Amino acid sequence: MYAADIITQDLLGNFWFRYLHVLAGITWIGLLYYFNFVQVPGLAAYGDEGKARNITVTQIATRALWWFRWAAIATLGTGLLIVGVAPNYMQDFMNHAGSTSANAKNAAITVGMLLGITMAANVWMVIWKNQKVVIANAANVLNGGEADPNAAGAGRRAMLVSRQNMIFSVSMLFYMIGSAHYYDGFGWSATSSDGYTFIIIAVVLGALLQLNALGKFGGTAAGNKMLKPYESHKNAIISGVVLWLVLFVVSIIFMG
Ligand code: HEM
Repeated sequence: MYAADIITQDLLGNFWFRYLHVLAGITWIGLLYYFNFVQVPGLAAYGDEGKARNITVTQIATRALWWFRWAAIATLGTGLLIVGVAPNYMQDFMNHAGSTSANAKNAAITVGMLLGITMAANVWMVIWKNQKVVIANAANVLNGGEADPNAAGAGRRAMLVSRQNMIFSVSMLFYMIGSAHYYDGFGWSATSSDGYTFIIIAVVLGALLQLNALGKFGGTAAGNKMLKPYESHKNAIISGVVLWLVLFVVSIIFMG
């Protein structure tokens, strides 16, 4: 092996970006699970506007959210670098359209990426946007200021979408890894239109869930029965597994 080979595009694309991608991904999703399984239930146990709660938000959540949102950008960036720089990644993707053995693999990574991109958008456009209101309120109250009446609503909007990201993450990682290590082999095969059908069904299901988490079907208030999947982190875990199962069965029907 020549030293020059080590830094060629080939190795960059095929190994180093993947390594950095997974490193960034575990940082992001690890913090997503910390928020969902530890911090949100922990803050709920404090009660509404206690001092301990506001200190936790300003001292812990602020730091965790910094790593969380920048890890999301790093994961998205390195993921897109794999697509753009890994030798022939895109060419293989396009050229194999029509080859039944590659269609299942391509459909799987498309679904994994669409879920990941939606999750990254949620981090910046919904979770972080609303958490800024929650953090500013906690800091203000700690300094003896008036509580912001919008803070509770902002916190709830962030929580609903954070639980939606947790739900998506179960399937996202499955298709992310499954593309190269499961759907590429083991007898999976699909015509081009079967692959597209699987993608379209996944997009429609994902879009309905996303709109629901944003409160588009009856608002974000606690009484809305459509929000049951998000009312506890246990419900979110069950919903994540159910979504994974539904998509897996659909993948068997069309690509198995
Ligand atoms: C944010 C949007 C994301 C994009 C655009 C993206 C893109 C990609 C691409 C193109 C691959 C290569 C797949 C292949 O070899 O066929 C990949 C692999 C992978 N991604 Fe992502 N990804 C994203 C999010 C994530 C997240 C959040 C995680 C969480 C840990 C993750 C974990 C992985 C893993 C473990 C692999 C497999 C690496 C391998 O087996 O070679 N990705 N991703």
